[in-house]
Amino acid sequence: MKIMTEEAFDVVVVGSCMTDLVSQAPRLPKAGETIHGHRFFIGFGGKGANQCIQAARMGVKTTMICKVGKDFFGDNYIQNFKDNDVHTEFVRQTSEAATGAASITVNDAGENAIVIVAGANMLLGKDELQEVLPAIRRAKVLVCQLEINSQTSFQALQMARENKVKTIFNPAPAIPDLDSGFYKVSDVFCCNESEAELLTGSPVSNVDEAHGAAQELLQRGCGAVIITLGPQGCVVLTAKASTATHVPAPVVTPVDTTGAGDSFIGALAFYMARHPAMPLEEMAGRANRVAALSVGAAGTQTSFPFRRDLPDELF
Ligand SMILES: Nc1ncnc2c1ncn2[C@@H]1O[C@H](COP(=O)(O)OP(=O)(O)OP(=O)(O)O)[C@@H](O)[C@H]1O
Ligand SMILES: *[C@@H]1O[C@H](CO)[C@@H](O)[C@H](O)[C@H]1NC(C)=O
Repeated sequence: MKIMTEEAFDVVVVGSCMTDLVSQAPRLPKAGETIHGHRFFIGFGGKGANQCIQAARMGVKTTMICKVGKDFFGDNYIQNFKDNDVHTEFVRQTSEAATGAASITVNDAGENAIVIVAGANMLLGKDELQEVLPAIRRAKVLVCQLEINSQTSFQALQMARENKVKTIFNPAPAIPDLDSGFYKVSDVFCCNESEAELLTGSPVSNVDEAHGAAQELLQRGCGAVIITLGPQGCVVLTAKASTATHVPAPVVTPVDTTGAGDSFIGALAFYMARHPAMPLEEMAGRANRVAALSVGAAGTQTSFPFRRDLPDELF
């Protein structure tokens, strides 16, 4: 497909789209068993799409580079992007796989059992990336995760780097033997505690341990490291600082933390695009405030704040 647009985007996300099919039931079914649940809903998810939508809701021009199925869920997801002002020219539809889906059962104790079928997400490859190179080249920030083929993520980050586009890499879901090349193409390497633990091989369950893990990850060659710590906010380490900074999050009463990490990264992408000279610690402090708001409401994308929900001082 030929790219018609000459538009420049602030934030380009190369990543995943997933439809969440959520059933709430008194308990999780056993093998071979059929049980009755009390509520069902469909939600929009996928780390790539979530992050893109949070950035768009804060008011930057965003585009999503992803693949969905030529099916009802794919059509529906494209409409969801449009409803959130995300540009959809580079959302490809394939008849070779279904739109990524997560079947989620939640019991009354809040525990869940999840089956994820990445489907069309895994078919996004280098041909599509070549087609969208003009859009990547003109972007301010490119964001990638690991819910698509990791080679595709790597190639997108590399393409951004070669064109002096700032990169945010979120190694989620983490893989223990992440190729060392990923660090070198990341301006900001942003992960949560369990991902930092898996990548470094050392426990990361408090601020002190996160400082150590950030040092270890920075040595692998990225420009900066952010490790998010849930209610504790995050630690930030840049190549020019000798020690990591703990940036606390506001105290909130959590309603649903699903997607908090994606809200944080979407907000971070917004700040890197809109205020490139702002210190990373300041961006992280503001992203903490955006993500903390998302924790106070139910759902994933449904909990992500819009610009109008946020105080002016965050912009
Ligand atoms: N209970 C909380 N109170 C305040 N802020 C929170 C809370 N939980 C999360 N946050 C905010 O969200 C950010 C990301 O949270 P977290 O480190 O839990 O990411 P995550 O594990 O990737 O999230 P999830 O997997 O739940 O989507 C934190 O850095 C913080 O800013
Ligand atoms: C970190 O993110 C992963 C998803 O990539 C999630 O499964 C895990 O529970 C998160 N860890 C913490 C400590 O929140």
